[in-house]
Amino acid sequence: MSTVAVLGAGKIGEALLSGLLHSGRSADELLFTERHPDRAAELTERYGVAGVEVTEAAKRADVLVVAVKPQDIDPVLDELAPLVGPDSLVVSMCAGLPTSLYERRLPEGTPVVRVMPNTPMLVNEAMSAISPGRHATDRHVRVVEELLSAVGKVVVVPESQQDAVTALSGSGPAYFFYLVEAMIDAGILLGLPRAVAEQLIVQSAVGAAKMLAESSQHPVLLREAVTSPAGTTINGIRELEKHGVRAAMLDAIEAARDRSVELGKAHED
Ligand SMILES: NC(=O)c1ccc[n+]([C@@H]2O[C@H](COP(=O)([O-])OP(=O)(O)OC[C@H]3O[C@@H](n4cnc5c(N)ncnc54)[C@H](OP(=O)(O)O)[C@@H]3O)[C@@H](O)[C@H]2O)c1
Repeated sequence: MSTVAVLGAGKIGEALLSGLLHSGRSADELLFTERHPDRAAELTERYGVAGVEVTEAAKRADVLVVAVKPQDIDPVLDELAPLVGPDSLVVSMCAGLPTSLYERRLPEGTPVVRVMPNTPMLVNEAMSAISPGRHATDRHVRVVEELLSAVGKVVVVPESQQDAVTALSGSGPAYFFYLVEAMIDAGILLGLPRAVAEQLIVQSAVGAAKMLAESSQHPVLLREAVTSPAGTTINGIRELEKHGVRAAMLDAIEAARDRSVELGKAHED
């Protein structure tokens, strides 16, 4: 078992620590670094995991997971540079930051694996897409796959697809929340109490997600199964088509992809 250090235990970093503990990792095999002593003390009390300085994290951990905001990356790379090398494994969870940035700033040969996780990591249902950098081997990829399997599902993609992944599964939960919010509003419009509308829609979303995940059927077939001739659902679908909801979804995800590309440009060579 390897020791894992999370550098920057904010929302995603804490979710990872919590998920790893949940999956049976011992607190002794985990470390984290944090800027604020109060936040560090709170995390240690909650999880029994030690908060340490970056120097100690790099000395003790086999895997260093960088989970700071992309705009906070520079000081972290400066701190890491004298502490890591070809025997380390650096995992970046920072949206939009290419492995080439790390490879440029860290000693030659340092293996880097880039990850795009999403917030359902908080409930152990993350979708993480991972891409090896230039010096990461299959073994490094397996280590990261195993690590992230503890908090959800994992897929390996070429780094060139990370902008599309960011738009789909990175931002994806927000689009589902948006849809649920709109459907609850529709319930209010139809005169249902808010609490009832919320319960109806949230449970319908949970049920639909479970059917999508557990049945081997394509979403089209699942939808057709609730769309009877001259029934209620087809009347609703006609309105969705009339308002171009499918085209709006394609445009929205394309726009998110374009923004991810734009943000990444700031870190090109
Ligand atoms: N949340 C998401 O939906 C999501 C999805 C996919 C990927 N990500 C990626 O995950 C990363 C973390 O996101 P987040 O939402 O968890 O952000 P966050 O809650 O702001 O967490 C970042 C944490 O790192 C700390 N930090 C910053 N610089 C540090 C340093 N030099 N040493 C130690 N700790 C430091 C921050 O402390 P302060 O409070 O002092 O700033 C904060 O606690 C981002 O790069 C983001 O792109 C997030």
